[in-house]
Amino acid sequence: MATTAVPVASPEDAIAVIDPRSYAEWGPLLDRFDRIRAETPVVRIESAEGFHEPFWLLTRHEDVMRVSKDNQTFLNAPRPTVFTGKDGEAFARAVTGGSPNLVNSLVSIDAPSHPKLRRLTQEWFMPKNLRKIEEDIRKLAAHTVDRLIAAGPEADFCTLVSAPYPLHVVMQILGVPEEDEPRMLFLTQQMFGGQDEDLNKSGMADLAPEQVLQIVMGAVSDFEAYFFALAEERRKNPTNDVASVLANANIDGQPLSARDLAGYYIIVAAAGHDTTSASTAGAMLALAQDPDQFARVKADRSLLPGVVEEAIRWTTPVQHFMRTNTTDVEIGGVQIPAGDWLMLNYVAANHDPAQFDNPRKFDAARDGNRHIAFGAGAHQCLGLHLARLEMRILFEALLDRIDSLELAGEPKRAKSTFVGGLKTLPIRFKAS
Ligand code: HEM
Repeated sequence: MATTAVPVASPEDAIAVIDPRSYAEWGPLLDRFDRIRAETPVVRIESAEGFHEPFWLLTRHEDVMRVSKDNQTFLNAPRPTVFTGKDGEAFARAVTGGSPNLVNSLVSIDAPSHPKLRRLTQEWFMPKNLRKIEEDIRKLAAHTVDRLIAAGPEADFCTLVSAPYPLHVVMQILGVPEEDEPRMLFLTQQMFGGQDEDLNKSGMADLAPEQVLQIVMGAVSDFEAYFFALAEERRKNPTNDVASVLANANIDGQPLSARDLAGYYIIVAAAGHDTTSASTAGAMLALAQDPDQFARVKADRSLLPGVVEEAIRWTTPVQHFMRTNTTDVEIGGVQIPAGDWLMLNYVAANHDPAQFDNPRKFDAARDGNRHIAFGAGAHQCLGLHLARLEMRILFEALLDRIDSLELAGEPKRAKSTFVGGLKTLPIRFKAS
């Protein structure tokens, strides 16, 4: 095969792809991805200042799908599974004693351990089992909608609904009592140090690196101690929550270690919270922007699953994950040597015109909506049925109680390279 020049992104594109601020400006970001995808669908991203290791950006739906599904060639370890600069990676290795990821969890491991760990809760997250907790979710949704109605007729949907509701759901399935939720939220923020100053309330922005290291190590051991105690409790008194499944699980005849248990709880807590918040806020934005669509869905609830699915594509809450290839590969005509790092950009893939007609349009009736917001292959989102269920139940409760809806101001997006979405959504509504 003829060798071709390696496509390298311009310095400006290279910065934009990893800069949290570019993910807050959705239109320009999508324009940029459209251009990159059309010119160089597989492109090398280098840091002029050596801030990060080089990686390959994939923007086409078919390439992101192919890599996601080939879990033999493309591994989640050994490099960070979420984009991290060299300092961040060194920091994680210092905290964990060698791992490039702060938390050792499902998304950061490969076979043979990954399927063994995943299998422990796979059944629990299937629709059949979720029916058992549907009533509890309905109560949380009703309670959340009550609070919104009480605050109306104008309110910020993110503060009152889309941020707290998925957090309550995920904490409930993890067996964390409501009074401990603020502590869990705080610990999560300390660990993952949100990139958006409005969302990161842990106050770590201005601390020296060694102070941050101390705090993060403290958060990790607090988490481990908390979930270890919770697991003890669930061994004595099992319930129908996922915490009980994990507490009583064995791998190769051994119970999970404190670190593996904590990693599992943390991944479920972290993966199940901001993601569903973002898609929930996105669905509400789409309904607020289109009164006819709102009226149609209110009158015909069979349209709701389409709204939910399209909101997940349209918002793409998880914006990327990274992979490392084990062998030399060719993607889209570009040769990628073994051991390189790849960014699966789900935002770009979910707006690929080769896969979606008019991708920026919110179209709840989209035919065969094959979006990749939940990933694909061995790591495909474990909580996808739960996310859809939570959203459907919430919108059923909202549509029962709200007669009209409009925007009451300009929504703002979070500055974040990894999990993104709206951080404010001012709405005006009329309650029934
Ligand atoms: C709209 C909401 C959500 C989105 C967009 C989302 C997206 C994703 C994505 C893109 C992945 C990685 C897939 C891959 O590498 O191929 C993932 C993994 C995961 N998600 Fe979700 N997620 C959502 C909600 C949830 C919820 C509600 C939970 C659980 C409570 C959850 C738990 C997980 C877990 C445990 C993994 C790791 C699976 C593995 O590595 O085997 N997610 N999610």
